[in-house]
Amino acid sequence: MSAGPAPILLPEATPSAMIRTDAATTSAAGIRYGDPDVVLRATSPVIEHQLRHRSVREFLPTPVTEEELRAVVAAASSASTSSNLQAWSVIAVTDPERKRRLSHLAARQKFITQAPLFLVWVADLDRHHRLAERNGRPLDATVYLESTLLGVIDTALAAQNAVVALESLGLGSVFVGAVRNHPAQFAVELGLPPHSVAVFGLAVGHPDPAEDADVKPRLPQSAVLHRETYDAGRADTDLPAYDERLAAYNRAHGLTGAWTERILRRLAGAADLAGRDTLRDSLERRGLPSR
Ligand SMILES: Cc1cc2nc3c(=O)[nH]c(=O)nc-3n(C[C@H](O)[C@H](O)[C@H](O)COP(=O)(O)O)c2cc1C
Repeated sequence: MSAGPAPILLPEATPSAMIRTDAATTSAAGIRYGDPDVVLRATSPVIEHQLRHRSVREFLPTPVTEEELRAVVAAASSASTSSNLQAWSVIAVTDPERKRRLSHLAARQKFITQAPLFLVWVADLDRHHRLAERNGRPLDATVYLESTLLGVIDTALAAQNAVVALESLGLGSVFVGAVRNHPAQFAVELGLPPHSVAVFGLAVGHPDPAEDADVKPRLPQSAVLHRETYDAGRADTDLPAYDERLAAYNRAHGLTGAWTERILRRLAGAADLAGRDTLRDSLERRGLPSR
């Protein structure tokens, strides 16, 4: 009988620079949920690694190597993709002046210029348009919302694979949704073709161990995991406890507020969307209509 393929040995989960919580006394799952009683009875090196994710907003100047970039993109390309359409591209920006201009467009977030690498993830249906043009074939399905959504979904799956990969290499990152504040200007700055749009950015680099941040507690499983059918009443039962856990996390890191208040403020109205309330028109103008 064959012994099967050799096991792939993963490096020890996340480097210590990423984690400040006392992991010796609380399991990775306990830290993830802000609740020391939570223990996973099934786990793996990959899961332990994912449980330790946190966004990094302060970076050391050490560059990200070409080899690291190639590995991260290979991991991104390994994500599932609708009908193998692979409707995404990624632009690797390292030029300090370009990063400065992109930061200016994306709510002036300073980590975009500080990070040695800024990856801009693009929902890209232009490749398919070029394919159709070269072959003299129609591409009428792309005028529907479904196609734009498909591009965005493919892009997000690829990017999240990239995040898991870069964290396994000891790098850190933070997503930047603010690239959607000015989609047209972003497209000009990056030379994006029609039928494509920057969905989010990802500032990447070596985490500065001095950053005051940690693993941020997530909603308990009672809120997100339903059995057979959706149960709104049960899902909301533990929200007050979660509010307390997130408020404690925020207090420990110089922030204020609990989850409920922050979410209600974030979603209160169009004024809270930083210009993204016009996104549908912007997409239409970029050749991504949503009929
Ligand atoms: C699509 C997307 C866009 C985001 N945009 C921003 C952003 O513009 N600025 C920022 O500081 N964080 C941004 N974030 C990071 C979230 O704030 C962060 O993931 C969330 O607060 C949870 O924290 P954690 O990643 O440390 O667990 C974004 C995250 C996602 C998934």
